[in-house]
Amino acid sequence: MAEKDIYILGIESSCDETAASVVKNGSEVLSNIISTQISIHRKFGGVVPEIASRKHIENIMPVIDEALGQANLTISDIDAIAVTYGPGLVGALLVGLSAAKALAFANDKPLIGVNNLEGHVFANFLSGENLQPPFLALVVSGGHTSLLTVEDYNTFKLLGQTRDDAAGEAFDKIARYMGLQYPGGPEIEKLALSGKKDAIDFPRPLLPGSYDFSFSGLKSAVINYIHGLEQNDKEVPKADVAASFQAAIIEVLVKKSQLALLETGLKNIVLAGGVSANKALQDALDIGAAEVGARLVHPTPILCTDNAVMIAARGYYMYKNNEFSDYTLNANPSLKLGAK
Ligand code: KG4
Repeated sequence: MAEKDIYILGIESSCDETAASVVKNGSEVLSNIISTQISIHRKFGGVVPEIASRKHIENIMPVIDEALGQANLTISDIDAIAVTYGPGLVGALLVGLSAAKALAFANDKPLIGVNNLEGHVFANFLSGENLQPPFLALVVSGGHTSLLTVEDYNTFKLLGQTRDDAAGEAFDKIARYMGLQYPGGPEIEKLALSGKKDAIDFPRPLLPGSYDFSFSGLKSAVINYIHGLEQNDKEVPKADVAASFQAAIIEVLVKKSQLALLETGLKNIVLAGGVSANKALQDALDIGAAEVGARLVHPTPILCTDNAVMIAARGYYMYKNNEFSDYTLNANPSLKLGAK
């Protein structure tokens, strides 16, 4: 007998995107609705938590309705509701979580609390590539930089993480210092295209003997460099700064990933989190992985930054593994990868 199709409604509101999606059998995207608040937060130079929560409240039900409508389904067709419960901004998380709990309770559907970082990793299962665990994952977002092994669909082992600034945070802070708009990562990437990546020799913090990362020294070196020129009334070669900074951070990410691939013997590495949208990083890691006999898989562009498809996809595997949540599930702003 053919197995019954499983429809998961995913809900995501951890930062500045209100998103909902319906995914069939963990891989077929029936809808992917994302209402982004980027233009609202841009004038403040970053996400304002209070404003983010208010906007999520306005958007959450219309976004969920649209996701169901576009999938041509009603809530009664859904098998489970998967929702991000961390990490993220507590007020923002609570909006999606409360909506998910209310829908689950009112319609007698199972609730599945999903870790946003695990969701980012699972976005790779929708990349169109043939991908199965075990593999290595490099999570690079605004709040996290981590290397982990995905041993099977429900087991993750952290190898190392940032001790200070996350990769995306370093991009954002340097961009802000250079007067670029929020979010800074895509702006730096654009500017770097017209700069020379070997123009300025910024430090490459490798922390030998550990899979941890540290980017605050690199960030300070870039800011000090700009400051030094400004103090002497010299023009800042912004494109060269962007290209040289980007090259330094990418080199660290690639070298650490190569070491982890060699040590674990894994043959696949996936990129996850907002910084995975960076084409220069994708290209360098593609080459770096091939150099050590491995293959890079990265999410399609729309699934690199926060979305609910990845939450529904992660939720599908938790559903299969009978990992359900009860109504005491609370938002956890500092939820760790692999935490149960
Ligand atoms: O995973 P994500 O959407 O959300 C949070 O971490 O909350 O990641 C957002 C981060 C921001 O720091 C943003 O600047 C960065 O991802 N980012 C990029 C690019 N696109 C987004 N960084 C570098 N290059 C990009 N193209």
